[in-house]
Amino acid sequence: MARIKVAVAGAAGRMGQTVCRAVESAEDMELTGRADPALNTPLATVLEDADVLVDFTIPASAVANAREAVQAGVHVVIGTTGFDPHELDDLSSANANVFIAPNFAIGAVLMMQFAAEAARHMASAEIIELHHKTKVDAPSGTAARTAALMSAASGEEQPVPIHSVRLPGLVAHQEVILGDVGQTLTIRHDSTDRESFMPGVLLAVRKVGELTESPTVGLERLLGLTN
Ligand SMILES: NC(=O)c1ccc[n+]([C@@H]2O[C@H](COP(=O)([O-])OP(=O)(O)OC[C@H]3O[C@@H](n4cnc5c(N)ncnc54)[C@H](O)[C@@H]3O)[C@@H](O)[C@H]2O)c1
Repeated sequence: MARIKVAVAGAAGRMGQTVCRAVESAEDMELTGRADPALNTPLATVLEDADVLVDFTIPASAVANAREAVQAGVHVVIGTTGFDPHELDDLSSANANVFIAPNFAIGAVLMMQFAAEAARHMASAEIIELHHKTKVDAPSGTAARTAALMSAASGEEQPVPIHSVRLPGLVAHQEVILGDVGQTLTIRHDSTDRESFMPGVLLAVRKVGELTESPTVGLERLLGLTN
């Protein structure tokens, strides 16, 4: 079978470099381009050779990059956070698909599912998300999505409060604390290495071309997990 040709936007960044290594190690994929202003390589130059673009850039670029890729007939997997996925809703009838996940780590996806389930049964909850000092957006996309899933599950209109911690030494962590009379429940996930995101990213690269709905948001949609 032909290998999937993958280009990476944000290829010089922390996540981009990790994705490039993961794609190079995957037997069914071929890394065909590394776009990044830091590498003097504009996106347009890598789209021609690609089946799928993986975007780990900055919130201000992700939407424009996705539009440019879809216009070129290239499917897009977006890991960048800090933008509203609804901004891409108008691409639903395009020839190429868009997949967006605020968190590609399986443990984080399970944490979100468990938190949504717990929110149906406990009186109130707050989220603490903790990330490395150079993360540009706050609250994190994972925290925002967790809060949205919890509100949808509980039917509660008040948003779940989110607290953001930015410190050196951290990678990506989140704690959901639920409280009720005389008890609390804490659900915590820790990504201690960016490798934690790679199986999810590679799964999305393999599946994005077959999506029946685009944009699709959330890794749980590719894992057969539903709320
Ligand atoms: N979805 C997930 O599982 C997940 C996990 C970790 C990080 N993230 C998100 O991924 C994004 C990147 O994180 P990071 O830590 O790698 O950041 P980073 O700052 O290390 O890297 C970002 C890179 O994007 C490049 N860039 C900026 N504009 C660009 C453009 N228009 N085209 C191509 N490249 C461009 C920058 O030069 C930089 O090299 C952030 O939004 C972060 O929140 C998501």
